[in-house]
Amino acid sequence: MHRRLASTLSVSLGAIALVLTAAAAQAKGSEAPLAAAEAKADKTLAQMTPAEKTVLTHGIMALPLGPTLPTLPEGAIWGAGFIHGIPRLGVPALTETDASLGVAYVMGMRKDGATGLPSGLSMASSWNPEALRKSGAMIGSEARAKGFNVLLAGGANLMRDPRAGRTFEYFSEDPLLTGDLVGAAIGGIQSNHIISTIKHFALNGQETGRKFVSSQISDPAARESDLLAFQIGIEKGQPLAVMCAYNKVNGASACDNDYLLNTVLKKDWGYKGFVMSDWGAVPSLETAIHGLDQQSGEQLDKQVWLDKPLAAAAAKDPAWAARLDDMNRRVLTSIYAAGLDANPAKPGGAIDFEADAKISGDIARQGIVLLRNEGGALPLAASAKRIAVIGGYANAGVLTGGGSSQVHGKDGPVVTIQSGEHTGFDALIAPTWQPSSPMQAIKALAPGATVTYRSGDVIADAVAQAKKANVAIVFAVKPSSEGFDQADLSLPYGQDELIAAVTAANPHTIVVLETGNPVAMPWLDKTAAVMEAWFPGARGGEAIADVLFGKVNPSGHLPITFPKSVDQLPRPVLDGYNEFEPNFAGDPPTPDARITADYNIEGSDVGYRWFARKGEAPLFPFGFGLSYTTFASTGLKTDGKTASFTLSNTGKVQGATVGQLYMVSQAGTPRQRLVGFQRVDLAPGASQKVSVTIDPRLLAEWKDGGWTIAAGDYTFALGSDAQHLGQPVKVHLSARSWKD
Ligand code: GLC
Repeated sequence: MHRRLASTLSVSLGAIALVLTAAAAQAKGSEAPLAAAEAKADKTLAQMTPAEKTVLTHGIMALPLGPTLPTLPEGAIWGAGFIHGIPRLGVPALTETDASLGVAYVMGMRKDGATGLPSGLSMASSWNPEALRKSGAMIGSEARAKGFNVLLAGGANLMRDPRAGRTFEYFSEDPLLTGDLVGAAIGGIQSNHIISTIKHFALNGQETGRKFVSSQISDPAARESDLLAFQIGIEKGQPLAVMCAYNKVNGASACDNDYLLNTVLKKDWGYKGFVMSDWGAVPSLETAIHGLDQQSGEQLDKQVWLDKPLAAAAAKDPAWAARLDDMNRRVLTSIYAAGLDANPAKPGGAIDFEADAKISGDIARQGIVLLRNEGGALPLAASAKRIAVIGGYANAGVLTGGGSSQVHGKDGPVVTIQSGEHTGFDALIAPTWQPSSPMQAIKALAPGATVTYRSGDVIADAVAQAKKANVAIVFAVKPSSEGFDQADLSLPYGQDELIAAVTAANPHTIVVLETGNPVAMPWLDKTAAVMEAWFPGARGGEAIADVLFGKVNPSGHLPITFPKSVDQLPRPVLDGYNEFEPNFAGDPPTPDARITADYNIEGSDVGYRWFARKGEAPLFPFGFGLSYTTFASTGLKTDGKTASFTLSNTGKVQGATVGQLYMVSQAGTPRQRLVGFQRVDLAPGASQKVSVTIDPRLLAEWKDGGWTIAAGDYTFALGSDAQHLGQPVKVHLSARSWKD
């Protein structure tokens, strides 16, 4: 949905640059090319009465949460939101559900279930856009089968703080990896004739005070990092809607931010879809003039601004009337580009849950990151006689993240820990487990073994089992939820002490982490092996067991840096964390409450870029991941526009790896940026030459309203992760400047 798409879309993956015509540049599977959708929108707009012009501009949250319990209007479905249609003109209503990880469970309100994908972090650890597209196509098909025609997916915020509560939902700390993956997911979702969002635009970096924290950042730093992630995601996925964020950016609410919405998104990037607000994120009527097109979850705001007040403004001021027409044109263009009118989504559609769960399990397997494997502790021999499984409710299932993105099957969570929040959102944020038991899966793969389970609540009990076993597997969990940031990087529930005791009792101790964030590991050197399984989704237990026993060779690579301590972060203390009581909604306790998050400290050097700038070594670097085989990446050749190199499997078993190409100096100045990547699956001894196209924006600086590549020497290096880099290759580039 983007001017740039009408010409050339360079795919940073694979070897070719695709030239897409406007016809093909539209969202995959949409009925009408972009231009035709806009023309059809104009025709409908010309027939609309003044009253009809404030139908598509606002809607309710279709849930009994917040101040008023909506009586569900005709056609609405319990879920995130509902926007009335205009039946007289054949304009369908918008039935909206969350989110990036599947059709949200919404506390069981619909008494139905959906297939939970692994967390965004898990899916991103695959570095596999094709797997993201397939996963997006799956959750989009389930949304449509349940009658939803808008999926509020596409979380594309960079992880500026590893303690942020929605880290599990998002993809990475890098704009290229995030943009490629979120774009692929959105393309998959929209292949079902439904609308996907990309969210939360922009610089939504923490949950503490999420409605009143201001992300302070210079335009160049934003353009080279968070905004670039959205720009690439929009180019690749063509989301038909953008959701603006709760937070402020440089003092102005993101949903009331003329610069972000009108200048960056609509003018510079030529975005033709519509901007919906987050739920309860609309402070005034003026948001419409500042680029907002639709007020979502209106009962959560102080007033329904984009209905009667908007109609009154349009009735007396031609500028408002023109803006109101543009708002309708944008929503209608997206409706027609997705083909919602010609392909109405109806509840009761067929869902092949077995096939869908397989898709979830496949990407979960690719997302498991092997962090440590001493002396070939893994893979486990199926001949292991006694296996002590400890903790993490591994006998029951796998942990999932809390908040609007939470997905469960029709029977709901198998384990729930009461969160004590008691504001009506309790069921939404409480830690819950999906019923895919790692222990059952381990038993199935080691039929001859005695597999015991202990909760780990009583350490001595767990230790006694560990002493008797050939191998002890400790499942360590760290819940995470929208609305709440983590206090620090430590594991909760005394699990550090449990792991220390078990490793002392049995040197063959394996730790399986199910976390929504990077965590500290004080016991790391005492373990035989550690894997990060994240929140692994509807078939997470089977995925973990398959990797433990080598049915699947681990191939995940970290999409986020694991710091040694918070002291390594740009902001060791998370802004506002000690001053403000956490609450899900994030409303300010007093009208003058303020939090400032100074992102200018790191600027566009987020994550590994910050560690490179500071010359610090993290606990585990961005891009890190071990395998049961070994790989080499050699033969880098590049002219700064494309690059080619060879990946080889130098070990004894089939495995997949991710070739990572980094810029390591920019016009003579040290600066690290991921500029290309490619996942390949190789048989033992096999090699594959890959080539990537380098997006010039990754080499450039943003200045004077455009991109500039300064003349000079640029060096590039292959990496097995952001810290372990090969010989750099130097390229001299001439000066170049251009506008988006
Ligand atoms: C939430 C989230 C957003 C979600 C929306 C609807 O508070 O911030 O991601 O899509 O409200 O549930």
